[in-house]
Amino acid sequence: MDILGIETSCDETSAAVLRDGRELRSNIIASQIDLHAKTGGVVPEVASRQHVTQINAVIAEALEQAGIGFGDLAAVAVANRPGLLGALLVGVSAAKTLAYALRLPLLAVHHIEAHIYANWLVDPNIAFPVICLVASGGHSEIFLVRGHGDYQILGRTRDDAAGEAFDKSARILGLPYPGGVSIDKLSREGNPKAVPLPRAQLGPDSLDFSFSGLKTAVLNAHRDPAYSAVSLPDWAASVQEAIVDALVTKTLRAARLYGVSHVLLAGGVAANSRLQSAMRDACDAAGLRLTVPPPRLCTDNAAMIACAGFYHNQAGKIDGLDLDTLASERLV
Ligand code: KG4
Ligand code: ZN
Repeated sequence: MDILGIETSCDETSAAVLRDGRELRSNIIASQIDLHAKTGGVVPEVASRQHVTQINAVIAEALEQAGIGFGDLAAVAVANRPGLLGALLVGVSAAKTLAYALRLPLLAVHHIEAHIYANWLVDPNIAFPVICLVASGGHSEIFLVRGHGDYQILGRTRDDAAGEAFDKSARILGLPYPGGVSIDKLSREGNPKAVPLPRAQLGPDSLDFSFSGLKTAVLNAHRDPAYSAVSLPDWAASVQEAIVDALVTKTLRAARLYGVSHVLLAGGVAANSRLQSAMRDACDAAGLRLTVPPPRLCTDNAAMIACAGFYHNQAGKIDGLDLDTLASERLV
């Protein structure tokens, strides 16, 4: 069965075809990065308009690359929450139109749930329970996943998301948008100990994050003459290490506190090379299994939407054509 996935919640217009929940036939991603780099961030109205101009071509290309036509589709899955409302509306309108015209089940997917499901594209046989760290531009959360669609939130950020911490720090350092990618690249030649930066612990058993203090510390240190000789790669590596340290420490703590032996990574920040290597080392040392989707499935994409939709369909969770879009809604 072929499910078409559609993702337009922020600044990627994406469509994918997933066969039988496991065979990714296509995953087309039209990025708006160049457009938003000019403004140093996403302008919602600009993003919506760009989705409108791209969506039909992106869907057509996803079908073509999958070697199928509209008539071969078994269902349409779409991200309807959370995200930029105008942007979400474009994908949801396209999905509703196809569902209506082709008489297909419509499957509404929570964007964060989809990020988690990117792991099932890597390993469709993941055994529950698992701990999943979701770190993206708008979210930093640790979930206990007990079964399909069964989530318990163990920790979340009290202020900025991890991706936001990367992006805001990058902006202070004068690095191009999107900041996380720039910091990742520059850090490879940097010394992570060059600038001492805080790691908010929030108590010995806390699974929450706080990144706003880090942003302030970066701002203050960057203005401090004592650090004026620090090179850009050293700055980048120091910022990255502080964020990665917090993410790894809390994720490992969650696995220990809940007695779970398998860790999943998800969200755009999971594409970070240092987060991957540090999490790998920490999991190896603790005897935990780790699954990480490839970078293209960590950042926003429609394959993960189709995958989450596949499991909705299996559970009989079908949505109606009166489906709404929501700017913010917690997964649990
Ligand atoms: O999941 P995503 O594509 O979109 C949201 O749902 O937010 O995540 C985007 C975030 C941005 O903050 C971006 O800077 C960050 O993920 N990101 C990275 C890397 N690639 C993307 N952060 C660190 N290192 C990377 N390689
Ligand atoms: Zn995302």
